Amino acid sequence: MEIWQSAAVVTGAASGLGAETARHLAEQGARVSVVDIDAERLHPLAEAIGAKAIPCDVSDSAATKAAMENARQAHGPARVMVHCVGRGHTQTLMDEDGPMSLTSFRELVEVNLISTFNMMRLAAADMAALPPLADGERGVIVTTASVSAYEGQSGEAAYAASKGGVVSMILPAARELGPLGIRVVGIAPGLFGTATLFNIQRDLNPRVTRQIPFPHRLGDPSEFASMVVHVIKNVMVNGSVLRLDGAYHR
Ligand SMILES: NC(=O)c1ccc[n+]([C@@H]2O[C@H](COP(=O)([O-])OP(=O)(O)OC[C@H]3O[C@@H](n4cnc5c(N)ncnc54)[C@H](O)[C@@H]3O)[C@@H](O)[C@H]2O)c1
Repeated sequence: MEIWQSAAVVTGAASGLGAETARHLAEQGARVSVVDIDAERLHPLAEAIGAKAIPCDVSDSAATKAAMENARQAHGPARVMVHCVGRGHTQTLMDEDGPMSLTSFRELVEVNLISTFNMMRLAAADMAALPPLADGERGVIVTTASVSAYEGQSGEAAYAASKGGVVSMILPAARELGPLGIRVVGIAPGLFGTATLFNIQRDLNPRVTRQIPFPHRLGDPSEFASMVVHVIKNVMVNGSVLRLDGAYHR
C-alpha cells in the first residue's frame, strides 16, 4: 500500500518504537494520528511531526473507541493501524511475600493483549467500510509482540503470556480479514533501546548484547519503524509474525 496520503493511527506513540514509527510514516506523507496515555510526551511529538495527538488509555475500551472516532474525524478512516502500546513486566510467580498479584497480571493482559484485540477489531471495522484500492487492498494492521512470546525468561511468565496471545491472533485474523483486503501482521522485537526494555532489565549490560549473534547491540527504534514501512508497502506480507532480533534466542 502507498503510504503517501494514507490515514494512519499509531498507538504507544509518545515513546520508543511507536514514536519512531509515527515519525517515519509522517515523513512518508501519511496523515498520522498518534495515541498514547502519556499526553505530556505525546503533544510535542505530534507537533514535531505534524500529527494529530489523541491522549488515551487503551485499556479503557470506551476511551479507545472515542480515540478512533477522533482520529477518523481528523483524517478519515485509517488504512494503516500500528499498535505499539505495551508494558514490560518482570516478576516471579511467587516470592517470599507470596504469589504474584493476580490484579497486576490482569492489568498487564489488559494493556498488552486485550488492547491489541480491541484496536484490531475497531481498525478492521473502519477499514472494511473503505473502498478497496486498485489491487483490492483496504488496509493493514501491524501489532507488536515480542520474542518473549516464544522464549520468555524466568520471571516473564505474565509478560510472555500477554505477548503469546498477540502472536496467536495474527494468523486467524489475517485469514478472516483477507477476503476484505485487510492484512494483519505482527512484529516480534528482540532487544531495542527503549524505556520498556530498561524497565524490564534495569541491569542491562554489554554481556547481554554480546549474546545477540549479530549485530551485537540493541536494536534502534528506526529499524523497527523501517520494518513497519516495508510491511505496509509489501502486500505479500500477511498473517505472519516477523522476528526482528538479530537472531537473538534467549
Ligand atoms: N524495547 C524492546 O526491547 C521491546 C522488545 C519486545 C517487545 N517490545 C514491545 O514493543 C512495544 C513498544 O514498546 P517500546 O519499547 O517502544 O516501549 P516504550 O515504553 O518506549 O513505549 C510504550 C508506550 O506505550 C504507552 N502506553 C503504555 N500503557 C499504555 C496505555 N494503557 N494506553 C496508552 N498508551 C500506553 C507508554 O506511555 C509508552 O509511550 C511494546 O508493546 C513492547 O512490549 C519492546
